Amino acid sequence: MDSLSVKTVPLVITGFGHVGRAFVSLLREKTEDLERRYGLSLRILAVARTEGCFYSGDALEVRQISRAGDLWTTGNPSWQEGLKIADVLERHGQGGCLVECTASDLETGEPGLSYITAAFHAGWHAVAASKGALVVGLPALKAVAAENGVFLKFSGATAAALPTLDVGLFSLAGARIEGIQGILNGTSNYILTRMGEGLDYDEALKEAQDKGIAEPDPAHDVGGWDSACKILLITNACLDAAYVLKDVKVSGITGMAVDFVQSARREGRSVKLLATAAPGRQGGRWSLDVRPSLVDSSHPLVHVNGTEKGITFLTDSMGSVTVTGGRSNPRGAAAALLKDIINIYRPPF
Ligand SMILES: NC(=O)c1ccc[n+]([C@@H]2O[C@H](COP(=O)([O-])OP(=O)(O)OC[C@H]3O[C@@H](n4cnc5c(N)ncnc54)[C@H](OP(=O)(O)O)[C@@H]3O)[C@@H](O)[C@H]2O)c1
Repeated sequence: MDSLSVKTVPLVITGFGHVGRAFVSLLREKTEDLERRYGLSLRILAVARTEGCFYSGDALEVRQISRAGDLWTTGNPSWQEGLKIADVLERHGQGGCLVECTASDLETGEPGLSYITAAFHAGWHAVAASKGALVVGLPALKAVAAENGVFLKFSGATAAALPTLDVGLFSLAGARIEGIQGILNGTSNYILTRMGEGLDYDEALKEAQDKGIAEPDPAHDVGGWDSACKILLITNACLDAAYVLKDVKVSGITGMAVDFVQSARREGRSVKLLATAAPGRQGGRWSLDVRPSLVDSSHPLVHVNGTEKGITFLTDSMGSVTVTGGRSNPRGAAAALLKDIINIYRPPF
């Protein structure tokens, strides 16, 4: 692509933990590729942390954010304690994309809700890896995005590198979705897979923690809440619905007995933490649930093992469509954010 047709896009990154850092490192790795294949030059204008922003008024280099791998604030001319992202967006004017990577609260949606809303009001698009804002207020956010003529994309929040929304919204266009079922949490799937191989729950959880697969506090994953958020967001996005987290019946795998997993295995079945959205009778409300379920060899997700995830859509005209795989880690989430940005800006094809 010749340089005249390269579009420069400013980015503001909110939250600079595992995913935010993986995103910056992916951007560096892909700089040339993004220009050559998509005509995009993505420049980091600001990075927001809880206490302030890295911001210099121009594109930031990594050396203006961190030194020897550690975040650099004291004495850093690019670190602006107390600076708010809303002010950065206002100073810069229209025409960029906010990359939301904060740890979010599922009850208030903050801080992502305020960041995304500020971006829309400033005429910026937003892509999100965090779920809080979307779980709390997806319909309202979509309305504000539409009013301001900008896009909201959130592949990173809906199973990251596994394409879920892209399939549901684009690949299945024209088909009616009649059911959705997924293995949407890599941590619990890893634990169940290892229990199927003979470990008990505590051993499998400890192994997952030692390998950095499970968080030190795994409650959100093994309790089923991460899967619940994802099936809620996928259902709301694909059906243009407005279900809330309380509508999802959630039962996780915490403390599951190894005997249950082993006896299923002896019968040729596997235990999977399935997240399901199924239509109600006669066009009524859909039922959403997350629960450990027995699957047999004919189930489309039976071979989804370890940290892999998978999703099946049942449709009227395209039959059953299943996608499996995708990296379950910060790099996978960063790649999903990047994909969403490319798809917002790439020329039509
Ligand atoms: N890790 C994954 O594999 C993965 C995959 C998909 C989605 N996600 C989602 O992506 C998000 C980020 O995940 P992560 O693993 O990167 O979490 P993390 O390592 O805990 O990073 C979150 C960051 O958010 C920042 N933060 C908190 N409040 C903030 C505020 N008001 N303004 C700006 N920054 C704020 C914190 O930075 P300070 O140091 O400034 O406090 C922290 O470094 C989460 O919502 C997670 O659910 C994660």
